[in-house]
Amino acid sequence: MGKVSINQSVYGTTPEGDQVDLYTLKNAHGMQVDVITFGGIITKLTVSNTDGKFENVVLGYDNLESYLSNPTYFGAIIGRFGNRISKGKFSLNGTDYPLAINNGPNHLHGGIKGFDKVIWNAEPIETNDKVALKLSYLSEDMEEGYPGNLNVTVTYTLRADNTLEVAYQATTDKATVVNLTQHSYFNLSGDFTKTVTDEEVMINADFYVPTDETAIPLGTLESVTNTPFDFRTPKRVGQDINAEHSQIANGSGYDHTWVLNHPAKQVNLVASVLDKDSGRYMEVFTDQPGVQFYTGNFLDSALPYGDGAHYADRTGLCLETQHYPDSPNQEDFPSTVLNPGDIYKTETHFKFSVK
Ligand code: GLA
Repeated sequence: MGKVSINQSVYGTTPEGDQVDLYTLKNAHGMQVDVITFGGIITKLTVSNTDGKFENVVLGYDNLESYLSNPTYFGAIIGRFGNRISKGKFSLNGTDYPLAINNGPNHLHGGIKGFDKVIWNAEPIETNDKVALKLSYLSEDMEEGYPGNLNVTVTYTLRADNTLEVAYQATTDKATVVNLTQHSYFNLSGDFTKTVTDEEVMINADFYVPTDETAIPLGTLESVTNTPFDFRTPKRVGQDINAEHSQIANGSGYDHTWVLNHPAKQVNLVASVLDKDSGRYMEVFTDQPGVQFYTGNFLDSALPYGDGAHYADRTGLCLETQHYPDSPNQEDFPSTVLNPGDIYKTETHFKFSVK
C-alpha cells in the first residue's frame, strides 16, 4: 500500500501576476487527483484499470494559459449559478437582477468571470487515511450581477475507497441564488482519441427537463419512458444519441438535466458509467435534485492540447449534479434561493472501481 499524501507546487502565474498552485492528492491505492487553485479545476484524475494500469480519465490541458480561457469549462467549479438563466435576468424579492449574456441569448455558468475563473484560497488537510483540499472564495456583493457577499467553500476529499468527495458550502448576507457544480469531463478509457459512445451509463431518473433550442427549460418535466432519455438500466451512450427526437436535436445529443429519483437532501447513488474495455467504473452519489448529462457534443470548440492534438466531439461526458436550469425563473422548480442565516450545503461523490 502506498502512502497518503498531498503536495503543493507552483502551476503558473496569471496575466495579473497572481500565483496559481497545483495540489496533488494521493491515496494509499495510488488514485491521484490534481487540482489547481485557478477555478478549483481538476486537471487530472488518475485511476487504475482492471490490469492495474493507472491513467488520467478527465479531459484537460497541460498549461495555465489554456485554462485561462477554457471555453468548455474542463474540470472547473461552476458558480454562482451553474447552467443557464434565461435571457440573463431574474428577480428576487421585487428587485430585477440583470446578468451577463454569454451563451446565445442566455446567461451561463455565473457569467464572464464565474467561479471557474477566480483564484481560490487553498488549505490542505491530511488525516489518517484521507486527504482533502479545502478551497474558499468570497464572491462580493453584485459580483457578476448577483446580490449578497457569498462566502463559498468547496472541499475535495480523496478517500481510501477511491471516492472523490466534493462538498460545497455557502452563506450570504443578502438573499441571492446559488447553484454550484463541478464540470469534469470523464472518459474512463483514458484514451482521449476515443469517443465515450461505447461507455455504459445509468441515470436513476424517471423524468428529464426538456428545453428549447437555446437550452432553456420549457417548464415541464417529461417522462423518459420510450424516449432516448431512458437510462434507468445501463445503456451504451451511443445507442440512442442520434435518434430522431426534437430534444436530441436541440442538444445535438444529450445536454439535459435529469430529474433524479431520490428524496432531496440525502446522498444517494444517482448515476454510473462503465467502460467495458478498461473495466473502469464510476458511481455518482449526490443529494442534488438534478444532474446535467452532457455528452461533449461541442468539444471541437475546446482548445488544442499538446503536440497539435485536438479534442473531438463526444470524447468526454459530464455528470454535473445540480438544480434544474433557469430555476430562478421557474416557480415550479425546487428553489435555488439562499437567505442570510441559512447555509447552502450539498455534496457529490465520484467513486471509482473496476468491474
Ligand atoms: C456548458 C454546460 C454543458 C453544455 C455545454 C454546451 O458547458 O455545462 O452542459 O450545455 O455548455 O456547450
